[in-house]
Amino acid sequence: MTATLQLALVLLAMGFSQGKQHNYLDQVDQLDAEAEIELSAGPSKFGSLWPLPQKVEISGVSFKLAGVSFKITDAKQSSAGQSCSLLQDAYRRYYDYLFAGAKRQEPGKGRQRLGGPAGLSELQVLITSPDSGCDGYPSVKSDESYELKVDQPYAVLKAPTVWGALHGLETFSQLVYEDEYGAKSINSTTISDFPRFAHRGILLDSSRHFLPIKVILANLETMAMNKFNVFHWHIVDDQSFPYMSRTFPQLSQQGAYHPYTHVYTPADVKMVIEFGRLRGIRVVPEFDTPGHTQSWGKGQPDLLTPCYSGSKPSGSFGPVNPILNTTYEFMTWFFKEISTVFPDAYVHLGGDEVDFSCWKSNPDIQKFMAEQGFGQDYSKLESFYIQKLLDIVATTQKGYMIWQEVFDNGVKLKPNTLIHVWKGNEQQYQSEMANVTASGFQTLLSTPWYLNRISYGQDWQGHYRADPQDFKGTEAQKKLVIGGEACLWGEYVDATNLTPRLWPRASAVAERLWSAKDVTDVNDAYNRLSVHRCRMVERGIPAQPLFSSYCPHEYKGI
Ligand SMILES: *[C@@H]1O[C@H](CO)[C@@H](O)[C@H](O)[C@H]1NC(C)=O
Ligand SMILES: *[C@@H]1O[C@H](CO)[C@@H](O)[C@H](O)[C@H]1NC(C)=O
Ligand SMILES: *[C@@H]1O[C@H](CO)[C@@H](O)[C@H](O)[C@H]1NC(C)=O
Repeated sequence: MTATLQLALVLLAMGFSQGKQHNYLDQVDQLDAEAEIELSAGPSKFGSLWPLPQKVEISGVSFKLAGVSFKITDAKQSSAGQSCSLLQDAYRRYYDYLFAGAKRQEPGKGRQRLGGPAGLSELQVLITSPDSGCDGYPSVKSDESYELKVDQPYAVLKAPTVWGALHGLETFSQLVYEDEYGAKSINSTTISDFPRFAHRGILLDSSRHFLPIKVILANLETMAMNKFNVFHWHIVDDQSFPYMSRTFPQLSQQGAYHPYTHVYTPADVKMVIEFGRLRGIRVVPEFDTPGHTQSWGKGQPDLLTPCYSGSKPSGSFGPVNPILNTTYEFMTWFFKEISTVFPDAYVHLGGDEVDFSCWKSNPDIQKFMAEQGFGQDYSKLESFYIQKLLDIVATTQKGYMIWQEVFDNGVKLKPNTLIHVWKGNEQQYQSEMANVTASGFQTLLSTPWYLNRISYGQDWQGHYRADPQDFKGTEAQKKLVIGGEACLWGEYVDATNLTPRLWPRASAVAERLWSAKDVTDVNDAYNRLSVHRCRMVERGIPAQPLFSSYCPHEYKGI
């Protein structure tokens, strides 16, 4: 999906269409100053926790962490012990986050304050459910809750499954701070936490620009720091087809920007999925059809509809050709492969922005429309295609997510279909959320979180204020909202600017989707988020600043 419609609306609102760019730019500072709340900087009573846990009590009693002897270990009664490599891996990761910086400091500084009788020596991790989840994949039903008690002589992190434990480790690491001498400290704390929404996603687009694996992994890492749990991989689109298919190798051979350097091999895809799993992140791929498929046509002859100019083919192609049996044979084999490559229970099937003009120009399509009794209603033809596609995907035992147009066009959907809302202004998307849930479908929201749309100033505040349950509807309807996704479409984004553009702006969405509904204090959010942003920077993530300020450990470059 392009953001074309949204962009047009924004440009219109800005007066671009009337050639008012310069006026707009002159007004920018003033407008932003009005739109934003005046923030007063200062420490939050919740320290730098982000997203804010459901229940937190931080006392004024602080301990030092016992430096190099500090350990993260399995509690004796834990159902996931030494054999759980996912946890062992996470312990190492968080130990490094906590102490890698300290080890680089000059020796002696703050030394005498480390350890000693008053030090915290250990974090014990206790998995309580017999099925820890260690060897499986996270799902929309995973229990992500955890409880954390920091006290002497050791801290205890208790969680039913490893997915909650991963979040608890992140929270523990966020409680640790440096005292005035640079010594690692933590306060006596009790936390009980769980997410408000089960689906908290980030969409990255690897078709408009190819995204090197390294960038994708760095962002999975950052997602874990923000308790996001779904990577929506918009892997192919009109512009390029970097997914290397075993069944149809021609798709990337012909459709990628480059057949060797700009593709995701089966090993790359596996790596992304496993890297995500180790951080409690699901990978949901999107293969958007019947529109947004120009790149598919290069390696798969006859897949796309030939457009006509008068009575002759014009040489250009439109959406997937819905009237050929070969189309559905192709889709059957293709999605059979996808269902085995991607372990998640869901695949995103797109279905947005289908342009009917090419279909209208093609005499074979016109004939088919007449035979089917569709009249001139091309959304019926779209429905015909989508319905057949959904049947095909249903045989692979996958559930599906689709963009809202498929629902809007009245396509018959399986009851467990997730409708992804992305269009319109606030009033329109809230009306859409109401309509989708009134029809009994689960839904997730992205409209207010198109982070590819940038503006001067602290636009994270707008992202922070949007709430996916703010629409007119019953409690039962509100329960059908499973979460949302921040989207970073790739027209103007590649490896050079992706990470700073996404973070910490996406962090605002992370807190909205994790924390309680009444966590809405922008001032408190600012104070926690600025420290959280510096923490991401200290961990090597080039997250951009919120406003004039500094970090104790500035970004050192790559
Ligand atoms: C942690 O304890 C220190 C020292 O008692 C205190 O100054 C600080 O405010 C506490 N932090 C939080 C977040 O309560
Ligand atoms: C397409 O499949 C349908 C149903 O199996 C069949 O009736 C029809 O003849 C096929 N069309 C072509 C062109 O093969
Ligand atoms: C929701 O449904 C109502 C009633 O059918 C309709 O008027 C409205 O346009 C729909 N909202 C959207 C965003 O399509």
